[in-house]
Amino acid sequence: MISQSSLLIPLFVTILFLQCLTASAATCHPDDEAGLLAFKSGITADPSNMLATWKKGTDCCKWNGITCLVDNRVTAIYLTGQINNGTNRSNTTLSGTISPSLSKLKYLDGIYLLNLGSISGSFPEFVFSLPNFKFIYIENNKLSGQIPVNVGKLTKLDALSVEGNLFSGPIPSSIGELTQLTQLKLGGNRLTGTIPAGIQRLGNLTLLSLKSNQLSGEIPDFFSGFSDLRILELSRNKFTGKIPGSISALATKLGYLELGHNLLTGPIPDFLGKFHALDTLDLSWNKLSGTVPTSFANLTKIFNLDLSHNLLIDPFPKMYVKGIESLDLSNNRFHLGKIPDWVTSSPIIYSLKLAKCGIKIKLDDWNPSETYFYDYIDLSENEITGSPLKLLNRTEYLVGFYASGNKLKFNLSSVKFPKTLKYLDLSRNLVIGNVPKAIAGLGNLNVSYNHLCGKLPATKFPASSFLGNDCLCGSPLPPCKV
Ligand SMILES: *[C@@H]1O[C@H](CO)[C@@H](O)[C@H](O)[C@H]1NC(C)=O
Ligand SMILES: *[C@@H]1O[C@H](CO)[C@@H](O)[C@H](O)[C@H]1NC(C)=O
Ligand SMILES: *[C@@H]1O[C@H](CO)[C@@H](O)[C@H](O)[C@H]1NC(C)=O
Ligand SMILES: *[C@@H]1O[C@H](CO)[C@@H](O)[C@H](O)[C@H]1NC(C)=O
Ligand SMILES: *[C@@H]1O[C@H](CO)[C@@H](O)[C@H](O)[C@H]1NC(C)=O
Ligand SMILES: *[C@@H]1O[C@H](CO)[C@@H](O)[C@H](O)[C@H]1NC(C)=O
Ligand SMILES: *[C@@H]1O[C@H](CO)[C@@H](O)[C@H](O)[C@H]1NC(C)=O
Ligand SMILES: *[C@@H]1O[C@H](CO)[C@@H](O)[C@H](O)[C@H]1NC(C)=O
Repeated sequence: MISQSSLLIPLFVTILFLQCLTASAATCHPDDEAGLLAFKSGITADPSNMLATWKKGTDCCKWNGITCLVDNRVTAIYLTGQINNGTNRSNTTLSGTISPSLSKLKYLDGIYLLNLGSISGSFPEFVFSLPNFKFIYIENNKLSGQIPVNVGKLTKLDALSVEGNLFSGPIPSSIGELTQLTQLKLGGNRLTGTIPAGIQRLGNLTLLSLKSNQLSGEIPDFFSGFSDLRILELSRNKFTGKIPGSISALATKLGYLELGHNLLTGPIPDFLGKFHALDTLDLSWNKLSGTVPTSFANLTKIFNLDLSHNLLIDPFPKMYVKGIESLDLSNNRFHLGKIPDWVTSSPIIYSLKLAKCGIKIKLDDWNPSETYFYDYIDLSENEITGSPLKLLNRTEYLVGFYASGNKLKFNLSSVKFPKTLKYLDLSRNLVIGNVPKAIAGLGNLNVSYNHLCGKLPATKFPASSFLGNDCLCGSPLPPCKV
């Protein structure tokens, strides 16, 4: 996946640069100081002391996260934390609410509160009293309630992102008044209803993301005026109907199209083959049917393609892509026969998922030109024979290897597991030998329904990981006979 935060960097660098220019100027305006101190007093927890420099009587233009421009007035607040990555809770959080007193900052035109985790309350109403407000980026926090129906009054807005909060209710139709918007990011909330028709008026958008909400209805056929759109993310909603024809108008610039995890039907449109700038296409988990268009031959620059979990049929088109990085064609109705040449020859591939693709090869005969970067390989539910020993021996960073439901025949005792391996599923194959101690360190293991034998090493895995073998014994299976 592409990091979208990279889009912010040029802007941020500019801010830092301008901040340096003003560094030697006099102290800040009393209104700015008062407004910022009110913001600070609305913060109830600041474990990393992000606001330690925010002290009454000192130059607020030098406070952490504060940018001053015109006549030493505060123009932007930029506070950012680290995203919680699941294994560890970041302590760069802020809890509390956004003080309405920020309206005292008459020159403020941007607020960036990114990944602070626990900023709560409703949409910040103070922006309505600042008619020149341009940038709202309040991402990955806990704002809730509805996006105000009068949001369309913020007509100077250049960017509106409240991605990753708890907003619910509909997208207000007045959003169509925000015709200067270049970025609209409402993803990762709990928004319902349909996409308002007014969004078609936002002809300056370069990025439109409504992903991971509960939006429904058809995707409106209104894209003909979006000549600058580079990123379109509508995945993980409940959209129905076909992929609209007007998306073809995005052919010259669109780099990133995500429509996965919806209820879309009909064919994959031919015109997508004309999207020369496209590097990421995700149409997975829909009900798309028919063949993949032969025009996909022209998608030579695509590096991230996910068409998995649809109803697509043969023949799969010839592709000429030079460096696919991530491919998922799993769970369609393909009978590919072999792993496509453009996959085998990719110098940079790291994720390959071809489950249930009708592949009938001997795995030892597959000679990918690069295996070093692989982190996931899923070849489940095919008719693959032979042994993965050579393949596994050539990977350095493999995290998951899934090959259940094939005809792999090899001695499990001889496998050299990559140190990074966490997930291994070899169930329903013809694997022989015994279960080596080395598997105990994996996160998930399934070697059920093979021809394994012997005493199991001590592991945390359940019996269902080992059932259906010839003569495995010992916990969690019944004890070995002495
Ligand atoms: C936050 O975490 C970092 C490293 O995880 C640590 O160095 C720092 O002291 C912590 N800060 C506080 C205020 O707990
Ligand atoms: C999550 O954060 C911890 C501690 O900061 C780090 O060790 C770990 O590698 C991170 N995991 C991922 C998947 O980024
Ligand atoms: C998470 O980070 C804290 C320090 O911020 C550290 O003490 C703790 O061991 C870490 N936990 C994990 C699971 O990495
Ligand atoms: C787009 O931006 C231009 C100038 O930046 C502006 O004149 C125009 O009104 C904006 N809106 C649309 C819908 O093009
Ligand atoms: C690829 O693009 C060229 C030029 O636009 C076109 O002539 C050709 O038919 C396309 N190939 C396919 C398979 O659609
Ligand atoms: C694994 O790789 C090493 C060194 O690259 C080689 O010596 C060894 O024969 C390989 N083993 C298998 C089973 O391919
Ligand atoms: C599997 O390999 C181990 C060690 O290389 C060997 O001892 C064992 O006999 C082999 N098992 C079978 C069934 O070939
Ligand atoms: C292992 O695979 C079998 C057959 O595919 C399945 O029934 C079982 O639930 C799986 N067990 C685990 C722990 O994944």
